[in-house]
Amino acid sequence: MAETVVQPRHLVLPMFVADGLDQPHPISSMPGVQQHTMDTLRSAAEEAVRAGVGGLMIFGVPADGDKDACGAQGADPDGILNRALRVLREDLGDDTVLMADTCLDEFTDHGHCGVLADDGTIDNDATLKHYGTLAVAQAEAGAHVVAPSGMMDGQVGYIRDVLDGANFHDISILAYSAKYSSALYGPFREAVGSSLQGTRASYQQDCSNARESSREVALDLAEGADMVMVKPAMMYLDIIRQTSEQSDVPVAAYQVSGEYAMISAAAQRGWVDLDRAIVESLTSIKRAGADIVLTYWATYAASMFRS
Ligand code: PBG
Repeated sequence: MAETVVQPRHLVLPMFVADGLDQPHPISSMPGVQQHTMDTLRSAAEEAVRAGVGGLMIFGVPADGDKDACGAQGADPDGILNRALRVLREDLGDDTVLMADTCLDEFTDHGHCGVLADDGTIDNDATLKHYGTLAVAQAEAGAHVVAPSGMMDGQVGYIRDVLDGANFHDISILAYSAKYSSALYGPFREAVGSSLQGTRASYQQDCSNARESSREVALDLAEGADMVMVKPAMMYLDIIRQTSEQSDVPVAAYQVSGEYAMISAAAQRGWVDLDRAIVESLTSIKRAGADIVLTYWATYAASMFRS
């Protein structure tokens, strides 16, 4: 009688790979999640694929000394993220969708998703050029999907043009279309060793606004997004529903680091049942209208959803 069915292939596993590690580095606010070395990234990716997970979303964590104001490491073919994409694509071929985070924040010394103008504000249009370079580097490294997560205006159209110009017509764009300025990204900042001071509220959305999401989604669709994403997920189920009614491309939702941390922490104390909370949260996100769910539990949850 179940109306909503989650299958392992609906799940995407976000993964962190860090430069210069001898062994994986656990992320204290996300029990069970780690910054991977290249080797453990490969084995964890293989495990996810074996579990039936549909895709992997890769974030690179450069050494602190390799960060600069423009996040140049992100576009370097020898940068940590591009090296990881190359290795995974070779390991996994085309059976698993390989997605790359197309953003500067992991690579900038100030930790913002864009480059800064002289007055310290984000320079939207100057940032787009960096995103274009980043996307091409990721496509060359083997990403099937680039995922601009910085919420700059015009990022999807700009990246599409640059990819097409470089003959990457078949590389898809997963647009972080409705991304809210959220307390729930806290653990992620630890996960990528972010040096961010201040907030991203000037380019991410205000949680009190729903119609603004609909406008952001419409713009990204018009610019050529192949998938649109809502983020975070559990506190934004109404936005997922609204987006699924509006979008004519698949809708993704990101169960973010803080959602993972909250459920994990409560479960560790024995206050909620971990497996039930995972199944219920992912089923609810799917029921709200998501076709794809990004979750740090992807590999673990896949076994629970395999029927
Ligand atoms: C920014 C980015 C963030 C996340 C994914 N991409 C952080 C932010 O916007 O501050 C957060 C994901 C999570 O919390 O799990 N490039």
